Amino acid sequence: MFRESIKKMAAYKPGEQPRAGQRLVKLNTNENPYPPSPRVRRAVASAARATLRLYPAPRADEFVEAASRLYSVPSKMILAGNGSDELLAMVFRAVLNRGDTVAYPVPTYSLYDTLAAVQEAKVIRLPLPRDFRVPLDELAKARANLTIICNPNSPSGTMTPTVELGRLARRLRGRMLLIDEAYVDFADEHALSLLSRHRNVVILRTLSKSYSLAGMRLGLCFARADVIGGLMKVKDSYNLNRIALAAGAAALSDTVWMRRNVARIRKTRTATERRLGRLGFELPESSANFVLARMPGRSMAPIAAGLRRAGILVRYFATPLLRDALRISIGTDGEMATLFRALEPLVKPAAARMRTVGSR
Ligand SMILES: Cc1ncc(COP(=O)(O)O)c(C=O)c1O
Repeated sequence: MFRESIKKMAAYKPGEQPRAGQRLVKLNTNENPYPPSPRVRRAVASAARATLRLYPAPRADEFVEAASRLYSVPSKMILAGNGSDELLAMVFRAVLNRGDTVAYPVPTYSLYDTLAAVQEAKVIRLPLPRDFRVPLDELAKARANLTIICNPNSPSGTMTPTVELGRLARRLRGRMLLIDEAYVDFADEHALSLLSRHRNVVILRTLSKSYSLAGMRLGLCFARADVIGGLMKVKDSYNLNRIALAAGAAALSDTVWMRRNVARIRKTRTATERRLGRLGFELPESSANFVLARMPGRSMAPIAAGLRRAGILVRYFATPLLRDALRISIGTDGEMATLFRALEPLVKPAAARMRTVGSR
């Protein structure tokens, strides 16, 4: 019943989501540990009371206009998605024919692999070095139909400066450069300024992380108006529901709330990095709401399993590039304290053994 390529491909594996009523410390899918702005709750209640009988606005006007005001980008350069995952799917669908090329550094967000497989596109995976510096020259030389940079990157949390992205956009001349800024509110800079200079740049944002709205499924795509027009052709007619649209507009109207939560998370991130460092983990500098904690050469599978037994979810990727690492979302200070109580006894015996061997 299926195309050959669909039969052969592996499905995307989302991180574990607790069942209703299950109490777990959830540090595995980079959600925000703090609630969304109270304005969201009010907007959702009032949208639910108003009409649900009629279809929502096909171009998500209310939400897009709120984004336009906030980011000073004209509405015609913004497209709203049911999460940025939907926007990613639209880009892949609109840009890649069977056999076309898509290039990105790895490890990165693994949904790109899934979407490429659906399109039967050829993936050019450029391995990131130990310091996670993006191989910009190789990406430019690959001249793929679509180039993606996740910035800050997941799972490393590392960041490529905007000036370097601008240089890459110029070198790719006419081929799309997609910058996935899902975590950018936790970083010190963003790439929206590139839109006015490069007609091949497409930027994706999500309200799932900094705005605490993963459950609402809200994403934004910024690009030149003609690029937005092309993407619109592959969009579902009514891709965002009325309640999500109201929630999105309300959330974007309260950046003070979002910024306060981001500041708390960044503070906890710094403390978490220090404490993981003292436990013997190596960490690239994170500009996101998670950290990648690595013990080179040591499989983290038993540690992730031990944490799971203690009711703590972190992300372990059973791939050759990441088997010695855990990606840990930044939770509240209380959640991080629970994590360390469980993590220390799991890590320490071997850490002590390794020190003894090393000192011989
Ligand atoms: C890099 C990256 N891009 C996009 C997404 C998808 O976000 P959304 O919830 O908006 O679909 C995620 C989610 O974890 C992500 O890590």
